[in-house]
Order: sequence, then C-alpha cells, then structure tokens
Amino acid sequence: MGCRIFFLSAFLLAVLLNCFTISPAAGDCFPQGLRKDCGFFGITQQQCLDKGCCWHEFPDHSPWCFYPNSAPPSYVVKAVLNTTTGLKVSLITKNTSAGHGAAITPVTLRIDFDTDQRLHVKFTDDNDMRWEVPSQFSPVPDPPTKRASNPMYTVTVADPGQVFFIKIARKSDGDVIFDSTGTTSFTGLSFSDQYLSITTQLPSSPNIYGLGEHVHALKLSSGTYTMWNFDTATPPNLNLYGSHPFYMDLRKSGAAHGVFLRNSNGMDVMLAASSLTYNVIGGVLDFYFFLGPTPEEVAVQYQQVIGRPHMPPYWALGFHQCRYGYENVEALETVVSNYASHQIPLDTMWTDIDYMDSYKDFTLSPTNFPKTEMNTFVSKLHSNDQHYVVIIDPGIANQDGYPAWDDGKKQDIFIKDKNGNIFIGKVWPGATAFPDFFHPNAMSYWKNEISKFLDLLPVDGLWIDMNEISNFCNGACDDDDASPTANSTIQTQQERVGFDPVNPPYAIHNQGGGNALNVKTLDMDCVHHDGVLEYNAHNLFGLTEAIATNEALESLKGKRSLVISRSTFPGSGSHTGHWTGDNHASWDDLYNSIPGMLNFQLFGIPLVGSDICGFIGSTTEELCGRWMQLGAFYPFSRNHNVKGAPSQEPYTWDSVASISREVLGIRYAILPYYYTLFYFANKDIVDDGSMAGATVTRPLFFEFPADPNTFAIDKQFLVGPGLLVSPVLTQGATSVEAYFPAARWFDYYNGTEQTSTGASVSLSAPKDHINLHIRGGVTIPRQTPALTTTATRKNPYNLLVALDKEQSSTGYLFLDDGDSIGDTNHVFITYSTVSNSTASILQAKVTTKGSTNADTPNLDSVTVYGVSKSPEHATLNKKAFTSFKYDTTNKVLTFSSMSQSMEEGFVLLWS
Ligand code: NOJ
Repeated sequence: MGCRIFFLSAFLLAVLLNCFTISPAAGDCFPQGLRKDCGFFGITQQQCLDKGCCWHEFPDHSPWCFYPNSAPPSYVVKAVLNTTTGLKVSLITKNTSAGHGAAITPVTLRIDFDTDQRLHVKFTDDNDMRWEVPSQFSPVPDPPTKRASNPMYTVTVADPGQVFFIKIARKSDGDVIFDSTGTTSFTGLSFSDQYLSITTQLPSSPNIYGLGEHVHALKLSSGTYTMWNFDTATPPNLNLYGSHPFYMDLRKSGAAHGVFLRNSNGMDVMLAASSLTYNVIGGVLDFYFFLGPTPEEVAVQYQQVIGRPHMPPYWALGFHQCRYGYENVEALETVVSNYASHQIPLDTMWTDIDYMDSYKDFTLSPTNFPKTEMNTFVSKLHSNDQHYVVIIDPGIANQDGYPAWDDGKKQDIFIKDKNGNIFIGKVWPGATAFPDFFHPNAMSYWKNEISKFLDLLPVDGLWIDMNEISNFCNGACDDDDASPTANSTIQTQQERVGFDPVNPPYAIHNQGGGNALNVKTLDMDCVHHDGVLEYNAHNLFGLTEAIATNEALESLKGKRSLVISRSTFPGSGSHTGHWTGDNHASWDDLYNSIPGMLNFQLFGIPLVGSDICGFIGSTTEELCGRWMQLGAFYPFSRNHNVKGAPSQEPYTWDSVASISREVLGIRYAILPYYYTLFYFANKDIVDDGSMAGATVTRPLFFEFPADPNTFAIDKQFLVGPGLLVSPVLTQGATSVEAYFPAARWFDYYNGTEQTSTGASVSLSAPKDHINLHIRGGVTIPRQTPALTTTATRKNPYNLLVALDKEQSSTGYLFLDDGDSIGDTNHVFITYSTVSNSTASILQAKVTTKGSTNADTPNLDSVTVYGVSKSPEHATLNKKAFTSFKYDTTNKVLTFSSMSQSMEEGFVLLWS
C-alpha cells in the first residue's frame, strides 16, 4: 500500500512537473510494464514519439523511450519433446507481423544440455535455411551426444498451448539468469527474416560487462550497444571496429554467468534498468550460456567455444614503437638509435602506410623506403634481436600491372557488387577492391602475396588495419572505374521475397542512429563467395582476414608470428591481437584504455593495448609519462601517433625517458609472468593438471567476486592473480585513490605491507611513480631486464614470493623457445611455499616436455615479502645455505647467489 501511495504521489508530482509524456496512444504504453528500448543514446522525446514509441521519463526507470507494450502475445508453444540432449520445442504464432516483417512460423527451439557448465539454446527456422556464422571461421563445439549429467542450471519453458517463455536458473541457488517472460509481441520473442528479438529480465541495477566494441566504463550502464563494425575515432558508446555479442552478468552473490549470442548480423543490444533486449537483423538466435560460477571460469568456458587465444611469440610482449608519418628509412633508423642511446627497451619497430609505394599493399616506396636500405635496416634490427612489423590494409588498388590486383582478378577472389562486378571502394591508394576471404582461393592468394612480400622484406609480423571494412565512400564510389567482370547470374544466398539488405525494416543504431548500414563501408548487397551477402558477413571480415594473415605468416615462417587486427569478432583471439584503435591524446582516453583492455580479455583477445600517449592530437610530457607508466602493463604495449602530431617517443622528454626506463624495466623483468599467463590462456589444461585461465590482465572482481566494492572498479586492474596496477589518470595528480580487496598486499618496489581495510586509500604517486602491489599468496618469476626480450631471456632469474596470511604462496613458470608452433618442448614449473610455526619451504616442481634447454639461465635469487621474523638457518636442496639477508623494516627476506638450475626442481627451506 505504502508503495502504491508513493507511486501515486510521484506520478502526480510528475504530472504537475510535466516530466513525462506517454504516447502514441496512452492505452498502448504501460510505464510499469517491461520496457523494451525503442531509442538510442541521446534520443529526444520528439524523436521517440516520431518513431511511434512511448516516452516516459521517470527517475531510475529506463529506458524512457520504449515500444508500445500492449500488443498481443507473440509465440505460443505447440509441442515440447524430450531429446537425448535436451528439449525440442515447436513455437507457432498467429501474428502476421513481428513488428518489422512477417513473423516466421513455426520456429524451432533446440535446447542442448551441452556440459554441466554450458547450455545451448537455439531458435531456428527448420523449414528454411537461414544465415549462420560459418564454423570454419568462428568455431562451434561438437554437438553433445547425451545430456550433461549434472548441469549447474535448470531450464523451464512454457507448456504446450501457453505463451512462450524460457527461464534458465542457476541450480545451486535458484537465481534466474535468463527469463524471457513477456506477454506481448514487443517484449516477447520476435522471429522474422530481418528482425529477431528477445528480451530477458534482469535483477535491478545489474552488473553487466562486455557487449563490445565500444568505449565506456567497464560496468555497463543502461543504453543501446550496437554491434556493427565501423571505422571511427572511438567516440564513447557508439559501435566501433569489432563486434562481440557476449556479456557477463555478475550477481550480488558473487556468482557470474556469461551469455553469447552467436550471430554476425547487425544488432542492437539494449540494456535497461532491469532487462536486456536483443534486436538483431538477420541470422538465427543462437545462444550459449556459461554458468561459471567465477568470472574467470565464465571467460574460460566462453573461450572454449570460440577458440582459445593465440600464444604470442615471446618478443611480441616486448615494447613496440610506431607512428603514422615516419617519412623515410632514415627516420626509422633515428628512432631505433635514439631508443638505444637513451637505454629504453625496444623490441619492435613498426611502420605505417608511409612505407608503401602509393599506399599499395606489398610494395615499398622506391624513394623513401627503398628495398636495399630497408633490407639493411631490417637485418640490423634482427642482428640486435629486434623485430619489424608493417601495416597492410585489405583494399587492393585496382591498377592493372599491380601484381596483388592482377593475381586477385585472375583468381576471382574479390568481393562483388550485386551485378557480379568487382566491388570498388576507396581507401588510401584510391580505388580499391577487397579480397573475399570466404572464397576458397583467397587464403592461397593472400599467402602468395605475403610470401612475395617477405621475399622483398623479411618482416616479423603484420598489422591489419581498416578491416571493418573501412571505405572512404558510403558503398560504391560513384566516380570509380569498376572493373567489369560482369556475371549477372550471380545467386545470393538470401533471395527471399521482400528481403531487403539495403533498407532493412529495423534500423540498428549505427553510430547512434540515422546511418545506413553502408556508411563508410561496402554496400549491403555486395556478394561474397557462394552468394553470401555482405549484409550477413560484414562483421566477419576482420576475423577472416586475421585467420588468413596469421596462417600465411606462420606457415611461411614456420614459427609463431604477430598479427594485430583492428576489426575483431568472437574467435579472432585465436589468430590475432588487437589495439583499441584511434584514441586521443587525452586524459579521458588514458582512462578508457583500461576498460578497453579488460573487455578484450573477456572477448578472448588478451593481447591488447591502446596507442600509448594517444593517437590523435598533441600529447603532453605529463600525459605521455603517465601513459608510459600505464601502457607498460598493457599485454600489447605500443606507442603510436598520428601523422602531423608532435613526436611522442618516450625519449622526447627526459622525464618520460626516465619513467620509461623504470616501467619498461619492470615490464621486462616480469615478462616470464606475462608469458606464463598467456600459456594459461592458450591451454585448456596446463602441465600440472590445473585448470587453465583465460585472462592476462583482469578486473579486480575476477579475483574478488564476493566483494561488491570491486564490481565497478576500472581505474585499477590486475595482471594475472597477483599484480595490482593503480595508475594516475588525472592531470596534475600526485596521489591516487586505490582499493585493496581483503588480502595481504605488498608494495612491489620494496615489500612494505599495505594494510587492506576494505576501503580506498590514497597512495602517493609522484610523476615518476606508478603504484604496483603484489598480492600475498602469489609468486612472480622475474628476470634481470635488458633492452630486448631476447637479451632479457639470457639473464638470471629471481622469484618474488609474496606470502599470504598462512605464509604460503604459489606461482608458475612456462618456458619454451619463445616461438615454436604447437605443443613443443617446454618446461613448466610450479612454485609453492608452505609454512608451519617454525619453518617455510619453497619447492619448485618441474615438468619437462621434450629435451631441456641448456641455455636457460639460473635462478640467482629469491625475494620473499611478508616474512614476520628473521630466519636463523636456511638450506637449499638440504645443504646449508648462508647467502641470505633479512630487512627488518620491510620484512623482506632475500636469498642471493643461488646458482640454481631453473630446469631442475629444488627445495629452499628457512627456519
Ligand atoms: C587507421 C589506424 O587506426 C591508425 O592506427 C593508422 O595510423 C592509420 N589508419 C593509417 O594507416
């Protein structure tokens, strides 16, 4: 009753203040009912009403613009059958319209109890093949042969004759994780050719993460998350380069689950105050649910479906320098020599499109980057144990006599327009065609072009840009001279009556709304091999190009290589890393880089980072210094800058040079830890039988899901389970607010213990300092840093052992040659420290696969943080060991001059 009075008075107040309107016909809009978002970020009341939707402003109740929710029920259940793997449900509707096109009936719903942790729910049209993401690009798990025996979930569907709903709950606590209960065609299921929609209810103020690629805080707020790969300079909240229809939902209990919609069509995912709606413009509704229950387990379970992340070569984890606008080979040489003279680590030099002849892929500018000089430059890099990566774009200039064009035309591998002519857009070189990686010959075409290029210049990796596909025209460029290879009998895959790829009945909110699908990309009626429409395949281009590029490089070089792609899709991480695109030299984008990096950990692309010091605009000494500090901990760490902007290599300012020496020194020291995290992400089961991981850097809630204070933290993050990074993100700041979840934490630099009070504390952060803390219980293997990863790998090891309250600690180390393909020779070491009231024992257990590497440097020292009192005795492998000292102020125990082989187990005891 109280509630009703409150609502009534709030309602009257609202009427008096005239703060909401309900239209189009008052009877069709129920503000208290389930609201399905009809708007987009920033929609005005008038725009909403013009769309025929209801507008109702009410504090804390979003969306304000929603579909009329009085329409009749959508699908009813005709039959439910038990199958060997789950259920088969037949759904029918009497509605002729699903809101945006004729409703398909019947719709078949298959529910497969795949594994105890994974449920597969798929709505299809059994009478007509529909577009689905090809498994050759983004894998699907083999269908189960029987129902999971002890699933973590329960599934309820409506009985025959009832309005359809599906409810999925976590068995252990009954928490409902998906609930499509809805009584109208707008809030229930819609399934038509070009509009598929379903809504799930969520708890109020849900903790939702993912749904990329967008710039926004890590924890999502209400709004429309559009997925349509698009080239734009990273405006907040709008659709960007990649599409990842995956979200993680973290409940108050600390249990997490994940939901993956396996669909490549354009879509809006609308997150409201207590519901989430998918509006998808094609394909099928193919969901996978992952029951976790920890966030890391959700990520692992998701990545077991889309493919485990690629294991990068070791050198890829070193520091990278790039810019758009290095004008000639001399400029490159100067940068490399400046790094050396300033003693700043540099593993890889990069070159943007400047190196090409008239911006044509696989060529070298004869004037500024001539072949001989470039080969001398690259061989000098190689002899210094450094590497070289260049950019390539998908647009191939349509100029006769240019081999990449002639070869592609001969093999007929370019994407076609609707008339069967090669589609011509415009990118850097001018008019361009685009390879169609759906074509069976495209892989060998691409490999052949890369192979010829490697003969020209032996680069170590490739940077694939502009692959959304970005086009300087909206669709075909009218004035371009298309090459006529007309084939008017071309059959498109989707030739249904009324199917309109150009003007679909539901307009996704491409760039916030009001933009056709072909804006800055291809026409939607362009055709790939076998009649596949661009309308369906658009979001897959970056993935398909990454597969072809990585496959070409690795097979040509016979070792692991580095590919970094701008456009991505679920599955990309098995072939490529990612950088977060055209950011700005701004403090906002310094912060935005953290949620960006953390999201891609969820999406299975752990090798990710943002352009350090900012791409667009002029950076400053202070910003660049802070960015080098943060960027030193991105898994992919590269400084990159736009043409025309002032230089921002770290040696540009003495202060930034000195900061960079310090932080890159730390990065290089802990690379064994990073590399081992990649190994965990790459494997399902690691050598000692422990479960693999998924993420390299991770949000705090991944490690502390029972602590709700961590749920929205995105200004700090963890590297692996144990290194907490708390960067300064504000101009002029010399302190930083940092949260320490309940655990023991130690200052990385000197081992002093940081008390964790369950609240934020203010840490001193002068300009030359980034706060780093190691978590008690975690052991981090390190090496003495040098200026390249190769040189560092020859240096002695140190173990940094941080003790928890029980005086225990665990860590791992994976060692291999750094670039061999497959499950080759390696060493896997588990370090565990345990203690009783009188002694502590650190034990290294070594598992070896294949022959060991005689060159592995020794373990020279062990540093233990959190040792309560000075030990009197120590033994190494049961022999007295005296080379240790104890720092009573910081409670740090250091063993030195150990000369212990890394590849043999050992026992270090102190008491
Ligand atoms: C766009 C990319 O995002 C940027 O990094 C690159 O410098 C330019 N293309 C030029 O190639």
